[in-house]
Amino acid sequence: MAEIVFPENFEWGAATASYQIEGAYNEDGKGESIWDRFTHQKGNIANNDTGDLACDHYHRYQEDIKLMQKIGLDTYRFSISWPRILPAGNGKINQKGIDFYKNLVEELLEAGIKPAATLYHWDLPQKLQDNGGWENRDTAKYFDQYAQIMYRELGDLIPRWITHNEPMVVSMVANLWGEHAPGNQELQKALQVAHNVLLSHGLAAQSFRESGIDGELGITLNLNHVYPNSDSKKDQIAADYCDAFNNRWFLDPVFKGKYPEKLMDLYQNKFDQPFEVKAGDLDIISREIDFLGINYYSRAVVKYDEDEFYNFKTIKPEAEYTEMNWEVYPKGLTDLLKRLDREYTKGPIFITENGAAYDDQIAEDGSVHDPKRVNYLKEHFKAAHQALEAGVNLAGYYVWSLMDNFEWAYGYNKRFGIIYIDYDNHQKRILKDSARLLKDVIENNGLKNK
Ligand code: FCB
Repeated sequence: MAEIVFPENFEWGAATASYQIEGAYNEDGKGESIWDRFTHQKGNIANNDTGDLACDHYHRYQEDIKLMQKIGLDTYRFSISWPRILPAGNGKINQKGIDFYKNLVEELLEAGIKPAATLYHWDLPQKLQDNGGWENRDTAKYFDQYAQIMYRELGDLIPRWITHNEPMVVSMVANLWGEHAPGNQELQKALQVAHNVLLSHGLAAQSFRESGIDGELGITLNLNHVYPNSDSKKDQIAADYCDAFNNRWFLDPVFKGKYPEKLMDLYQNKFDQPFEVKAGDLDIISREIDFLGINYYSRAVVKYDEDEFYNFKTIKPEAEYTEMNWEVYPKGLTDLLKRLDREYTKGPIFITENGAAYDDQIAEDGSVHDPKRVNYLKEHFKAAHQALEAGVNLAGYYVWSLMDNFEWAYGYNKRFGIIYIDYDNHQKRILKDSARLLKDVIENNGLKNK
């Protein structure tokens, strides 16, 4: 029974995002966000669910911090709602919004939990969307101003900052596939959004350095290791396109100051000017950061298909799948981490999200057993450990999510939490078995029996 032990200063945490848990969507001066607008339009979200109340974390954060303490978290990743701070996106500051996060962070610190704040986890102020949202370059400027306000207000209390969560989803899922707010379906728009989001990251990273505060700053990218469906030359080409679309389009500008040529060529063949990049933008985007955050859920397997614009089609191999219909593939995490180490960064790298949705039920005795999630997490902890053994500078691991929450287009249907939320019973919190697993893992700084 071998033991798996993580490095001494390895950090264990759990993650959430403002819109998914806070509720209080129109309280204490908060402005409307694009997710408020999107969910209030019928037909956009499964069951027409909204984040109006969500887990009511806005009012129950103290109770939630007690649960984090119970689990023994070293660190907690949450996001700041921009329209709570700046209801119109720029201009007038809403002091009550700042107070909420200040109270949250002070309480976390008192509980011995290190706060890690994401500045943008998708809830853009609607007022900025009315002027084009991320498609408008001004939004990058306003994001930088908002970031500076947060550095000034909370810079001495928050040691870890993440500018953006998953620019790929912000651009492609929200503006090409139309599944997320604001629901656009236009490639050129999506490309401009991606660029402006990355630009805003660079601007806010620069301001962070200039602010002189002592913390660390990074960006979180959703990455999935891509595998060709066969050894054929064509399937390898397909895998390369998919990797360029999902991963390199975001990794390359941040770490290499350029966009992948392969896709640039494709875009330039389609449009005269696919999107606007100004001189100097890529220097800003590739400013040095302190760490890379990655969200890993699954891999991609693809085969060549010349009828597809990107020349690939996704395959679903016969395997185990979560409720999201995402394949359980822990090895993809090891492979991804090794690849990042080889090609992009010597770290530190944090896994800022990893977890699984399953259809949890409350048992008769009131407990919630989630053996599949326990297994999923164990296997991914092991996969992360294998990357560490291979020399990857992995510094911490945040499980997604601390609690069940509003899963975007899927509403409350999909449960990712290690804490169960009983939506029918005043959002009562129940620790699942997976929360106990994480508690044990943190206590032992690893897994006792393999
Ligand atoms: C990620 C998001 C997070 C959550 C998980 C399941 O893409 O960052 O908010 O929805 O997926």
